Amino acid sequence: MCGIVGYVGYKPVTDILMDGLEQLEYRGYDSSGIAVMCEKEIRVYKAVGKLQNLREELKGHENEFNSSTMGIGHIRWATHGAPTVLNAHPHTCNCGGLVIVHNGIIENYKELKEELIKTGCIFRSETDTEVVAHLVAKKYDKCKNLTEAVRLASKEIEGAYALCVMHKDCKQKLVITKRNAPLVVGVGINEFYAASDVPAIIKHTNKAVYLNDNQIATLTPEKMELIDADGNKIEPKAEILPWEPVALSKMGYKHFMLKEIHEQPDVIRNILVGKLHAPDENIVLDEVKLTKETLKNLNRIQIIACGTSLHAAMIGKYLIEGFCGIAVDVEASSEYIYRKTVTDEHTLVIGVSQSGETADTLTAIKQSKARGSHILIITNRPDSAMAREADSLIPVNAGIEVSVAATKSYIAQLMAFYLLALYMSEVKESMAKTDLTSLKAELMILPQKIEQILAHKEDIQNVARVYANTKDFIYIARGINYPTALEGALKLKEISYINATGYPAGELKHGPIAMLDDTMPVLSILMNGSVYEKLLSNSEEAKARNARMIALTNSKDEKLSHLFEHIIRVPDVPEIFSPIIAMIPLQLIAYYIAEFLGKDVDQPRNLAKSVTVE
Ligand code: G6P
Repeated sequence: MCGIVGYVGYKPVTDILMDGLEQLEYRGYDSSGIAVMCEKEIRVYKAVGKLQNLREELKGHENEFNSSTMGIGHIRWATHGAPTVLNAHPHTCNCGGLVIVHNGIIENYKELKEELIKTGCIFRSETDTEVVAHLVAKKYDKCKNLTEAVRLASKEIEGAYALCVMHKDCKQKLVITKRNAPLVVGVGINEFYAASDVPAIIKHTNKAVYLNDNQIATLTPEKMELIDADGNKIEPKAEILPWEPVALSKMGYKHFMLKEIHEQPDVIRNILVGKLHAPDENIVLDEVKLTKETLKNLNRIQIIACGTSLHAAMIGKYLIEGFCGIAVDVEASSEYIYRKTVTDEHTLVIGVSQSGETADTLTAIKQSKARGSHILIITNRPDSAMAREADSLIPVNAGIEVSVAATKSYIAQLMAFYLLALYMSEVKESMAKTDLTSLKAELMILPQKIEQILAHKEDIQNVARVYANTKDFIYIARGINYPTALEGALKLKEISYINATGYPAGELKHGPIAMLDDTMPVLSILMNGSVYEKLLSNSEEAKARNARMIALTNSKDEKLSHLFEHIIRVPDVPEIFSPIIAMIPLQLIAYYIAEFLGKDVDQPRNLAKSVTVE
C-alpha cells in the first residue's frame, strides 16, 4: 500500500528509482511518479496505472535527467482522491521548488489545508499528502533549513507517514522521516537509499538503518545525520539485512504466487529448526518471554489480526483451546479497536500479521499494550513496527512473500500456532505425553505430505479448469477447517474476483442453501475426523439441491464418487493438522482459476500487501 523510494549519491537516479518502485509493486498501487533533481530545477513525472506507463512517460525526456543523481519516487494506492495524474505523488508546493512523497494518512489534513489556503497555498490535488508539501515549504521559507522545516512540520501533522522530501536549493540533500509507517535507509559508499521496504534496496546494499517513529534523517552522499523530534542528535545504528536478492526472483515459475506455494514444505522445515528436534523432545520456544508460572495460570488469550492472518488466528484458537484448555477470543483488528474491549495485565494478547505493519492490528496491539497485556507477535517481518511493540516475538521465517495473496506466510503462521499450542500444553501438562509425542512426529512429516500434493498439482489444475468460468463458489467445512473454508474462498476472490464464500457447513441450511442450484459449485473440505460424517450429511443436503459438488478429502472412501462430481485427494493426517494439508489444493485452485482467466495473479486489482491505513 503506497511505497516510497529515494536516492542520493553518484549513480544515475532514474534507473534506481524505477527499479526500486518495481520491487515495491507487490504492495499494491494504481499510479506512480518520480521527482529528480535536474540542473536548474526539480522535474516531476507521473502516470496512472502500472509502472510501464510511467516508463513510457519518461521516454523522450532522458536528456532532462540523465545526469541526475538524486530523486524520490512513489507508487500510490488511492485513499484520498481517485487514481489520477494530479493525485499521484510526488506533490509540490506552489512554486514546485519543494517536492515530497508520502506513505500513510494525514488525519488532520482538512484543518491544515484550510489554514494553508488562507496563507495563499494553491492546492492541485484531492490528496491529504499535498498539505505536507505546502506546510514544509512554508517552514522552509522561514528557516531556510530543510531538516528543520521537516521537523517543525511533523510537529503539526497528525496521522501516519513515511516522508521523503527534497528542495531545489539543496542539490544533494534528502530529508526523510516517519511515524507509524515503515521506512528503511540503505547505506552504500557515498550514497544512501530510502525505501518503504527492503526489496527496493537489497540489490544495492545489505547495510541498513531502520528509522524509529519521529526520527528525521538528512541524507547527503557523504553522510547520514539523524535527529529526534526535538532536534537532538542520534547515532544511526546500521544493521546487516538477512535478505538474499535471489529471494526476489521467480526462479522459473510463472508467478511469485506459484513459487511461494512450492516453497511451503521448506517453510515448515525452517520454522521447526531449533524448535522441534525429535518427537520425544520438548518444544523449544525461547521466543515466548512469559514465565512458565504465568503461562500455567493464564486463563484468557485474545488474538487480533486481519485478512488471511485472521484465518490463521481462528485456527490458533482451536489449537490453544484444544491442547491447553485456555479460553481464546479472536477478533478482526478493525473491529477490535473501536469498541470497549476488556484486556488487562492478565490477558495474553497475540497479534498475527505477515507484514507486521497492518495499521488496524498495530493500533489494537498498542491499545492492549497500554492496558498492560503481554504482547506476543507472530509475523514474517521481525523488522516491522509490530515486532518492535512485542514483548514476545515469534518470527515465522517464511522468507519474503512477493505475491499479494498470502500463501506461505499463512502456512508459516499456522506452524507458529502449532508450536505455541504444543509448547503451552507441555508447560501446562494439559495433554498426555504419548499424545504429544505422536502429534510432534506427525508435525515433522508434514513437508513430505505437501510435496506429495504438489507432485500431483496437474490434477488440481484440471479441476480448476472446469470451474474457471463460474460466477460464484461456496466452500463448506466444519470444526477446525471452517477457517480453511474462509481462507480458500478468500484466496479465490482475491485473485480471480469470483464471488466465493466460506460457510460452516451446519449453517448452510439456515440461509445459504437458498442459493444452491446446478450452477453453483460447492467445495466440501471433507477431512477424516470428528466432523467427517456431519459434513458428509451437509454435502448430501447440498447435492439434493443440485449443486455441483467437489470434495477435498483425505478419505479413501470410494463411495464418495456418487456424491461428488470431482474429488481432490490429499494424504491422510490427524484431523488437527488437516488445515495445512487442505490449504495447499485450495491455494492451487485459486491460482489456476485466476491464471486461466488471465488475471494479474501476483498483483490483484485494488489490493495491497501491506495495509498501512485504517
Ligand atoms: C492485506 C493483504 C492480505 C493480508 C491482510 C493482513 O489485505 O492483502 O493478504 O492477509 O492485509 O495483513 P497482515 O500483514 O497483517 O497479515
